[in-house]
Parts: sequence; C-alpha cells; structure tokens
Amino acid sequence: MQKKYLVTTAIDYTNDVIHIGHAYEKILSDAYVRHLRGVHGKENVHYVTGTDEHGQKVEAAAKRVGVIPKEYTNEIAQANKKELETLNISFDRFIRTTDEDHHIVVNQFWQKVKAAGFIYEGEYTGLYCEGDEAFVTPSELVDGQCPNHPTTELKTVTEKNYFFKWEEFTNFLGDYIAQNPAFIPVEVRRNEMLGFLKGGLHDISISREKAIMAWGFEVPEDDSQIIYVWFDALINYLTFGLQVNAWDDDTKIVHFVGKDILRWHTLLWPAMLQAAGYKLPDTVVAHGFLGLNGQKISKSIGNVIRPSELVNKYGVDSVRYYLLRYTRLEDDADLDMEHFAEVYNADLANGLGNLVSRVAKLAETNNVKNNQEPFTYDKVIIEYAKIQEAIEAFNFPLALETIWQIVTKANQTLSEAAPWELAKQPGKEKEVAEILNGQIAAIVDISTLLLPFMPATAQQILDQFSQKQIKAGEPLFPRLV
Ligand code: MSP
Repeated sequence: MQKKYLVTTAIDYTNDVIHIGHAYEKILSDAYVRHLRGVHGKENVHYVTGTDEHGQKVEAAAKRVGVIPKEYTNEIAQANKKELETLNISFDRFIRTTDEDHHIVVNQFWQKVKAAGFIYEGEYTGLYCEGDEAFVTPSELVDGQCPNHPTTELKTVTEKNYFFKWEEFTNFLGDYIAQNPAFIPVEVRRNEMLGFLKGGLHDISISREKAIMAWGFEVPEDDSQIIYVWFDALINYLTFGLQVNAWDDDTKIVHFVGKDILRWHTLLWPAMLQAAGYKLPDTVVAHGFLGLNGQKISKSIGNVIRPSELVNKYGVDSVRYYLLRYTRLEDDADLDMEHFAEVYNADLANGLGNLVSRVAKLAETNNVKNNQEPFTYDKVIIEYAKIQEAIEAFNFPLALETIWQIVTKANQTLSEAAPWELAKQPGKEKEVAEILNGQIAAIVDISTLLLPFMPATAQQILDQFSQKQIKAGEPLFPRLV
C-alpha cells in the first residue's frame, strides 16, 4: 500500500506568462492534492509545479526583447508564480529548470542512462518545430506544417546529436500501458497512446549543437552539445521527488498534463526512467484543451486571459468551481463567460451563498447557539465515500454535483421548515434552534467537502460556523448583473 503521494503539473514554458488555459491543469491537480492532504496528512503529499525555461522557444523570446534568456525567464517565472498564487494553487515547490539542484540531477540522470548503454552519438536531419520544441516527422505533417503550430516555419536541421535508444522500449511500453489501465486513466487517451505505439518508436535526438542552440545544460563531458529541452524538463519531477524523498515504491506518483504532451509523459518519460533505473510514474492524468467562448486561447486571436484578471473580477473560487465542475477530462473544455455568469448566479449566489447567508442571519437574529462539535475531515458525513471515490477517479464534476445535491437539499429543507415563521410564535425557540442546528451541521459538512475545490470559501464558512454565536457576514457571491 502506497503511503506517500507525489503530484505534479506540466511546467510551463517561459516564453510568455501563463494564461487561464495553462492554469486549468493547476486547478485540477490542486483540488486532487488538497483532497489527498485531507485524507493522508499534509506530510505525505508532495506537490510541484514550475517553469520549463530552456530551449529554442525561450531563447528566441528573450532575443526578441533584447535580454539574455536568464533575465527573461526570471521575470516570467516570477509572474507565473504570482498567477498561480492568485488561484490558491498550493504547490510545495515552484521548480525552475534553471535551478541548481535540477542541473545536478539532470547530469546524474544523463550519466546513468549513458552508463546503461542507452545513449549513442549520431547525426540527425529533420524538420524542427520551435513551437513544440521537437522534430516533426513527415507522417505528422498536416499540409506540410506542424499540426500544433501551422503558422510556425519549420526549419530543416542537420546536426550531430546524442540519441536515446527509444525504439528498444516499444514493447515494454505497450505492455506497461495495456497491463496498467490506471497508468492512463482516461480511456480515449490510453487508446491514442497504444495506437501511436503500433507505429513503433524511433530513437530520439536528446541533444542540440550548442552553436545552434546554446540555452540549456551542456551534455556531461561534451560541452559542444546542449541537452534537449524535453529530456531536461521531464527530469524536473525526479529532482523534486528526490528532494522530498518520494521517488520510491511507497509513493504514488501522479502527473497532470495536457493531451498535447501526453506522449512525452507516457512514452518518453517512462522509457527514460526505466533506462536510468528509477521507478515509473503510477498515473498520468491528461486533460483536454480549454477554450474561451468557443475559441482557442491564443495571442493571435487576442483573447489571452490571465488567471489574475478572472480572479479579480469574479473571485478565486468561482473560477475554480466553474472549471472543476463544468469540464470533463475526456473532452476539450470551454470557459463560456455567459454560461459562467449563469452558473455563478444559480449555483454560487443563489445556491451556496444564499444558504449560508440565510442560516447565519437566522442564527444571529434568533440568538441560536451553535451546538456543533468542531469538525474533523474524516468525520462520517453524507455522501463522503461517493465523493471521495469520484475524486480518486479524477471525476471532479461528479464530486461537485454530489455536493451540490446536498446544497440544494439544505436550501429546500430550510424553505419548507420556514423557521422564520415559527420564530414569530411564542414558545417555539427550541424548535427553531433545532432546525437551525440541523442546517448548521449541513453547512459544516458541505464546507468540509468543499475544502479541496474552493479552499478559501470553504475555510471562511467553517470559521464563521465554528463560532458559538454565528453572525451574518458579507455575501460570499454577490449576484452578477
Ligand atoms: N514545457 C512543456 C511541458 C513540460 S512538462 C515536463 C509545455 N509547456 S506549455 O507551456 O506549452 O504547456 C504547459 C501545460 O499547459 C501543458 O500541460 C499544456 O497542455 C497546458 N496548456 C496550454 N494551453 C492550454 C489550454 N488552452 N488548455 C488547457 N491546457 C493548456 O508543454
């Protein structure tokens, strides 16, 4: 039985500050992490996010504004970290691939793979896409262009490179994926990866000539070569895992990534780890792409929106709630602002917000004393098992839907019991207090269940409802007009 958990997100390129699309994955993983901490204890859960700072894309972005790459990435990394903090992403470390301890781990990793005989020297000619930081094979081209970056000019590159013997892992990976469905829990994605493997893997270039691309770590014992950015970046997970003593069989390792980079995480990364002699990750959760009002989020469309802009306007937990409840891992997601406003008013302002404010106000005006025990997370609560199971299966919409059934039920019960009517009649104080204490209990349960998803709101409600004399507060979710 694994006792520790290591949860990671993809680390974002520092060619630009992240937008809400990048942040989507951080919200998903943060909810999962907060749930794990509640169940298994904070000390057993380790959570890392950060920035992927090397490579041609970042080098080119720095060049465009005329600064050295390190200076450029310092600024972006700082800004990204702030963006994630506005969303209450509770990472234990914000790792940067330029960090010194990461450099050491990358060097050691390279040497291990080399010593095991999986790295050799060769020459490579191919089409390189800067957008993907990867060579694109002819069979992947769509209309002669990279499918992910149709407007980026592909460069023909011939270089001396070091190669990783990826092909040798084709059967190993096929078996590993097929025999461990939990490795890629989203079935459509698992099938995609198995389909891809059918074509067989080819050895992959894992270094670039320094004369062409200088921004990265030098290959150990060959300073004319720079380690390929993906090889370097994937190792960030191990750098952190080793730091917190959690890259072992006692640890469940869970990576959250977008569908576009699943291949690197389920095919290249396990092969690298196997070659170097490390434990493989247990689960790679892939999500779809988030669009905005039905459109792709992109600079050229001009609809890039930062997490902080949304948080300042609508509050952190409404953004978290919407993305956790109304998107499915299997599909691409959309942040439709009209739908967002409807949901905000219905679920948050009229649903949770109204319940909390009605009960608090009634408790205050009727002088009802709270007889609740202080809450504990593992207290047996309605639907607890079902919700826990949904989170373990990364089904956040189901978990939130189940919690909202309790919210709706509590609002209905309150309306039906109408304690404000009873309060008008003499001698009914005890009955009023009983009804309200039932409601207080429901609100405490709901907030406890909401801690992973809407941590600030849930904590605020718990603080308010742990007072002996509960008092009315400001509305949690003022209605949007
Ligand atoms: N640097 C690599 C990841 C290396 S992990 C060892 C990278 N960076 S990225 O900045 O392009 O993307 C970071 C993450 O954000 C990826 O998981 C990617 O799928 C995700 N997203 C980027 N745009 C997105 C949306 N519009 N929607 C959802 N996720 C998106 O890839």
